[in-house]
Formats: sequence, C-alpha cells, structure tokens
Amino acid sequence: MIGEKDIVVLGIETSCDETSAAVVKNGRIIMSNVISSQINLHQKYGGVVPEIASRKHVELVIPVINQALEEAKTGLEDVDIIGVTYGPGLVGALLVGLSAAKGLAFSANKPLVGIHHIEGHIAANYLEHKDLEPPFICLVVSGGHSHIIYVEDYDKFEILGQTRDDAAGEAFDKVARSIGLGYPGGPLIDKAAVNGNPNAVKFPRVYFEDGSLDFSFSGIKTAVLNYLNSQEQKGQPFSIEDVSASFQQAVVDVLVNNTIKAAKIKKQNKIVIAGGVAANSYLRRNMENAAEGKGIKVFYPSIILCTDNAAMVGSAAYYEYKKGKMSDMHLNAVPGLKIGER
Ligand code: KG4
Ligand code: ZN
Repeated sequence: MIGEKDIVVLGIETSCDETSAAVVKNGRIIMSNVISSQINLHQKYGGVVPEIASRKHVELVIPVINQALEEAKTGLEDVDIIGVTYGPGLVGALLVGLSAAKGLAFSANKPLVGIHHIEGHIAANYLEHKDLEPPFICLVVSGGHSHIIYVEDYDKFEILGQTRDDAAGEAFDKVARSIGLGYPGGPLIDKAAVNGNPNAVKFPRVYFEDGSLDFSFSGIKTAVLNYLNSQEQKGQPFSIEDVSASFQQAVVDVLVNNTIKAAKIKKQNKIVIAGGVAANSYLRRNMENAAEGKGIKVFYPSIILCTDNAAMVGSAAYYEYKKGKMSDMHLNAVPGLKIGER
C-alpha cells in the first residue's frame, strides 16, 4: 500500500551483467525487485563480455521495468523519483539503464537521481535492517571494489582503505578459474571450502605500513598459481577443497582485521558488509566472531541483496533525493566514478 506521504522510487541497475528494476518505498521497503541475471550467457567465456552484456540489457531493460511496476502494483504515475546507477561499471551496460531512466523521467516528468553503484551496495543494508542508520564502518567487497568506508551520513563517505591492485571478488574469480572451478568463482569457492582445511596451505596475508588499511590481493593469486605448479612438478595432486579453504581464509583474515581496526580508529560500534563478496559465509562468520566481545555489531544483507540489484539503487536514490541531490538530463555514464564523487 502506498500512503499519501510515501515516496516511491523506481530503481534501475545495469552496470554489469544483471538487468534489474525495483520499486522501493521510503528507502526501506521493497515493493518489487526484479533481477534478470545474464550469468549463463557469460559463463562459457569465464567472465563478463561487455558487448554481450550491453545487448542483453537493451533487450531486457523495458520488460524488466514493466515487470517491477506490475509486481509492485504501481503505475509510472505513482512513482515519485527515478533512481539509476550511472557508474562505476561497463560503459555500454550503464548507458542502457541510464537511457531508459532518462527517457522515463523526461516523459513522465519525474525527478532523476543518479546513483553510485557502490553507494547502492551500502544502501542494500538499509533495506535489510530497518533501524540501521549511519554512522558506521562499511566493508564494500565486490568484483570491482574492496573498500573500507566510514559512512558518516547517508550521503557522506570517507574512504579509509582500499585495494592497491585486485578487488577481493576478482581474486575469488581468478583463483576459482585456476583451480578448475567455474564462473563466478566466489560462490563456488565458498561451497568447496566447506569441506576443506583452511590451514592446509599457507597463503600470504598482505598488510601495509603502520596505519594503512589498504589491501592487496594480487600476490595471493600468484601464490595459489605457484602452489599449483609446484604440486604438478612434484607429481602430486592438489585438493580443490583445501586450496579453496586456505585461500578464502587468507583473504577473509585481512578483510576482517583491517575492518575491525577501522572501527577502533573511528570509535564505531557498527560494522556493515556490502557487495557481492558480502555473500561469503566465511567472511560473515569471521567478522561476527572478531566483533564479538568488542561491543561491535555486524550487519550484512541477505544473499539476494548482496548481488547487483535495483532495490539497493532505489534505497540510495531516496536518501540522495531527501538531501536535495538530484540529477538532470545531462547525467552521463561514468565508468570510473569514485565513491562520494558527483
Ligand atoms: O557486487 P557484485 O554482484 O558485482 C560487482 O559489482 O562486481 O559482485 C560480484 C562478485 C564476484 O566476484 C563474485 O565471485 C563475488 O562477488 N561473490 C562471492 C560470493 N558470491 C559472490 N565471493 C565470495 N563468496 C561468495 N559467496
Ligand atoms: Zn556490484
């Protein structure tokens, strides 16, 4: 039900390989969240092929938007704001969602709000945890990002640490490929690791100079490859389960230690995890274990809200709108958009 003072957002997300549209009420209530994943189209290439992604978005964007409105029992006339991801992401993919959003906003005369994809991932937690409010420390880990962010307010972000090379999700995907698991690698490593020994192989944990909360994951990828080569040279098989568990443990150790350190530095008692890698069962459990006894509470979204989806964009757009931050018809896709940048 939509009340008189409710603010209804139509969210649109097409930054990578998910075409998604959602209707979100007051930044917190999901009325619909339609996600059409292209994973099976890209699987045989071992990663997302940008041109294929764009073409599929073109085919799907309008049907997905219509379905989202239908499932929410809402017409475009009942929508107050149109929110859309305009970066970072694949430029061709972003442009599809952006063109649809601009067309709808212009024809229906609705305000348009451009959203940063990562700020959307953070907002997924507002949908999941109705009482969660900033300030908090957020660990954002996806296929393209690994950031520790101090979220001071809904629209105020301070980057405390970030990866200097590969993103955490990227490392999961590359390691999965090298040990013969498919794409996307994260969920497959998560599953294989359940039956593995996290102490079977010692992989490096990279920490920088004192005070830095930055990450580096490219070394661990090389270490896995070196281990596989040395096993082959010795004529010894390797265990997919043990390599998965040991790799995952090494990545999670660094993510957890730096995030807890950030919470201490900023004197925060809330840690929020966001992005595709937030689905990782080991990360969730280890963060909770590390926070226990320190007076820190850990939040993360349900699995479906960890992956790319438009409901998170709808929530973020609501808070941007409340802060008076609207876009206009000049809004363009920005593939390398920085966090907190407008
Ligand atoms: O946020 P997302 O859906 O797309 C980007 O914005 O990048 O994140 C996708 C990433 C992929 O690298 C995928 O392997 C990883 O999230 N991922 C996971 C898990 N589920 C997805 N990584 C570790 N464990 C998981 N359970
Ligand atoms: Zn994402």
